[in-house]
Amino acid sequence: MMQNTQAVLLEVKNLTKNFGGLQAINDVSFVVPEGKLIALIGPNGAGKTTVFNVISNLFPASSGDVLLAGKSLVGLSPVQIASLGLIRTFQSARVFPGMTVLENVMVGRHRMMRSNLFDQMFWLPRNRRAEADIYARAGALLDIVGLQQFRDSHAIDLPMGAQKMLEVIRAVVACPKILLLDEPAAGLNDAETADLAGLLRAICDSGITIMLVEHNMPLVMGIADEVLVMETGRLIMSGKPHIVQRDPRVIAAYLGMEG
Ligand SMILES: Nc1ncnc2c1ncn2[C@@H]1O[C@H](COP(=O)(O)OP(=O)(O)O)[C@@H](O)[C@H]1O
Ligand SMILES: [Mg+2]
Repeated sequence: MMQNTQAVLLEVKNLTKNFGGLQAINDVSFVVPEGKLIALIGPNGAGKTTVFNVISNLFPASSGDVLLAGKSLVGLSPVQIASLGLIRTFQSARVFPGMTVLENVMVGRHRMMRSNLFDQMFWLPRNRRAEADIYARAGALLDIVGLQQFRDSHAIDLPMGAQKMLEVIRAVVACPKILLLDEPAAGLNDAETADLAGLLRAICDSGITIMLVEHNMPLVMGIADEVLVMETGRLIMSGKPHIVQRDPRVIAAYLGMEG
């Protein structure tokens, strides 16, 4: 715990995003230190998903900059950004229904498979090795979340909690530097949320930085190293979970939201 490198992995600088007359993000700046789990919270419509969409360049910012390990992501395609190690999940993402549990995890490998079409046609040894590594990694991850026994089942038949785990594991198989997760606990019961919390903390402790958008306060407060709070496009505060939780602005923003 004492090794505190303070290296910044992701930096967002003066980010603004307008949709016509609506300012969805208004001059937002923050840093995500390497190896940390940072939560981004705020009421519906605050602009959290838009922050993820602009970071991953699903659409361009109106102004501002995003740096990954000091390199600007502005102008890069989502695929290029993924290949630099920034992997995100979507708020409404689901498993691939026609695939088994294991196949759903293996789909995540494409960022790692750098081999070209020629290599693939002739199935060169380095591909076989890479595929075997990923297979082992996928198996180990399924073990961790207790889904190994269901590896050959259809993913769509799993309970919602297990499907959410699968989405997270698929992102981890790509060996990201940083994972952006958009409301991974949505629709989960308390036991499933607790399992997810354990998985996210374990992923972070294994060295993968996490930025988490989440409404579930016990989850956020239980695992986040730091919490950023957005309201109507602006970052209104940030700090340690126990400090943020007591802030009157946060309490006000969340009143009536639970349930
Ligand atoms: N593609 C879009 N086009 C127009 N308006 C959008 C688009 N995406 C988000 N918005 C608007 O931007 C604001 C922030 O949305 P969003 O980032 O989804 O909030 P959150 O994820 O915090 O609930 C909302 O008012 C939403 O309606
Ligand atoms: Mg959202």
